[in-house]
Amino acid sequence: MSDAPVLPVGDEKRVMVETMFDGVAPRYDRLNRIISLGLDQGWRRRTVQTLGLPAGSRVVDLACGTGDLCDDVHAAGYRPFGFDVSAGMLSAAHTAAPLVRSDVLLLPVPDASVDGVTCGFALRNFVDLPTFFAECARVLRPGGRIAALDAAEPENPVMRMGNSVWFRRIVPWIGARFSDDPAAYQYLPASTAYLPPGPALMGLLRDAGFGAVDRRTMMGGSVQLLTGTRTRAATP
Ligand SMILES: C[S@@+](CC[C@H](N)C(=O)[O-])C[C@H]1O[C@@H](n2cnc3c(N)ncnc32)[C@H](O)[C@@H]1O
Repeated sequence: MSDAPVLPVGDEKRVMVETMFDGVAPRYDRLNRIISLGLDQGWRRRTVQTLGLPAGSRVVDLACGTGDLCDDVHAAGYRPFGFDVSAGMLSAAHTAAPLVRSDVLLLPVPDASVDGVTCGFALRNFVDLPTFFAECARVLRPGGRIAALDAAEPENPVMRMGNSVWFRRIVPWIGARFSDDPAAYQYLPASTAYLPPGPALMGLLRDAGFGAVDRRTMMGGSVQLLTGTRTRAATP
């Protein structure tokens, strides 16, 4: 019998995700560093670099958590604004960026009012990816950029096996010892199953009104970075 956690959908998923991040928030940063072997900070910096926007550009970091990407956005010379649904994650945040508690599927942001969107390790937590990408397209000005970082399943069988051992065995073990919510560290690795394959993710971005869509992988394919340029409004 499988010991994989059940992956909820719809409203059940929305409530579970918010509750879970409220619970893991106090130790989230520390666990992130351990689980990624300290590499997550470099991945976030690379995410921000791919925006390629003029200095002073307004960048919204969606599902900002404790604000790591907001800090990288600021360090790159942009003006960050963070949005997250979890009050716990926002309370644990360390960034000086303005933060707003909001569901990123329904942003309190006017149309075409921002230059860039970043999103780190959150795509798989949303209940509806087409709605998320449409919302990104709505708030971005034409020519604005999106950069979304998340976990991925490596294509290479050897890397896939190593990735599976790390994320399905060792990460839950680390979570059981160092987190306030061990079940969260079973869910988080398993939740990559929510993500469509790379080509389908790129298709969702194009459908939402993004051009120059690109997907690059890091860490042997276990991390992916999706980028695009907003070319037209999303079709209703
Ligand atoms: C794995 S954490 C990533 C946090 C941060 N972006 C990072 O790179 O460390 C996922 C975040 O997504 C947030 N989140 C999930 N669904 C959300 C939604 N619909 N609206 C806003 N935030 C959401 C969670 O509260 C959590 O802070």
